[in-house]
Amino acid sequence: MNLKALPGTRDILPSEMGLWRRIEEKGREMFQRWGYREIRTPIFEDTRLFRRGLGETTDIVEKEMYTLEMGKGPSLTLRPEATAPVVRAYLQHNLHKTRPFQKFFYMGPLFRHERPQAHRWRQHSQLGVEAIGSKEAWLDAETIRLAQQFFADLEITGINLRINSLGDEQCRPAMRDQLRKELGGRLDELCKKCRERYDRNVFRILDCKEEGCRSIVDGLTDLTTLLCDDCRRHFDALRGALTAMQIPFEHDARIVRGLDYYCRTVWEIDDPELGGSQNALGGGGRYDPLIVQLGGPDVGGVGFALGADRAIDAILARGGAEDSSEPVLDLFVVVVEASVRDEAYLLVDRLRLQGIRTDVDYEGKSVKAQMRQAHRIGVRWVAVIGPGEISRGVIRLKDMESGREEEIGEQGIPGRLAASTGAKPA
Ligand code: HAM
Repeated sequence: MNLKALPGTRDILPSEMGLWRRIEEKGREMFQRWGYREIRTPIFEDTRLFRRGLGETTDIVEKEMYTLEMGKGPSLTLRPEATAPVVRAYLQHNLHKTRPFQKFFYMGPLFRHERPQAHRWRQHSQLGVEAIGSKEAWLDAETIRLAQQFFADLEITGINLRINSLGDEQCRPAMRDQLRKELGGRLDELCKKCRERYDRNVFRILDCKEEGCRSIVDGLTDLTTLLCDDCRRHFDALRGALTAMQIPFEHDARIVRGLDYYCRTVWEIDDPELGGSQNALGGGGRYDPLIVQLGGPDVGGVGFALGADRAIDAILARGGAEDSSEPVLDLFVVVVEASVRDEAYLLVDRLRLQGIRTDVDYEGKSVKAQMRQAHRIGVRWVAVIGPGEISRGVIRLKDMESGREEEIGEQGIPGRLAASTGAKPA
């Protein structure tokens, strides 16, 4: 048997966890600073949630969902994105009735059956926010600031923010007609996929990556010139807010996003350092129609999701180092000989219960090898315990920074460590 993680999935080993934690802690801290509260939804949902929510003709629904038929129950799908689940939870728990305006954040894995390639996984992780219950353009701007500042704080610089407006049900039909009219005579110049998109989802032609399609798209009318008055005001207000906050952005009429629930604001942040086509670090926008589609009131919602895997790739691409993979300990217990091992294990147990991060050798290593291990871990304190110490009722405590040693009673250890390292006895 030669079992391996499946294509498009991977293990995140302890040596890589430091970066993951850094990203997740940064997200958690910032989302809370911006007033968002954490929500966790199930990893799998009723398939109809995604079919109805994301749009039947999206790539995700057409070919990328991991769907399981489990006998009698409803068809299940591993969540390919988290916005529809968050809106479902908001409606299911009647949160809109108690307090219509709510801000949520989440982090966790998503599943899409895409072709694996650099920066594209079948299981990837997102950090995201959803602010539900307002149509205010400043709220769209607030979410964009949050995403942009997240990358700035992680020193991921040189990235591009591109925004667009897709209009709403008032003006979208005119935009669609205009696109069809301009592309109708040039169908044979489009790629095969885009010829299909022409009938099924014509807006997706705008973000086709094929050279031929791109050059045609470049010459098309900017569809934001067809926005209705309300959508134009909203887009102007968003741009005004971003400018006032000094957030650099570009209007890119090509941004349409791969999910059908959006209206008005859509945006993406891409990182040229990642190269290739999978360089979007995050994206988001306004999804007022999704809430209605799922049976809720027309209160409006806006949010984004950032790709955690890609944020890590972006840090590494800029020479960022993996964090230390060694355990973080206050104290390492060195056992002088086998006869005192039980005493040592009990000592470790008592210290841990008092809140001291402690570990000990379980491999029967020599004292020298145990000291080397303590060095490698970078632990400040080492407690040496041998027959002599036990008979005197003391522990030999060594400060690895100064090299000084002292004999101390066990009950004195928490205080001694707290005084010099800031570690608090429980
Ligand atoms: P999305 O653009 O599909 O949006 O995904 C958000 C981000 O997740 C992408 O920009 C990318 O960084 C990362 N990502 C997506 N697919 C993969 C993959 N296969 N491998 C690695 N990273 C990936 C959404 O999912 C929306 N729910 C965002 C949103 C929230 N809009 C409003 N609220």
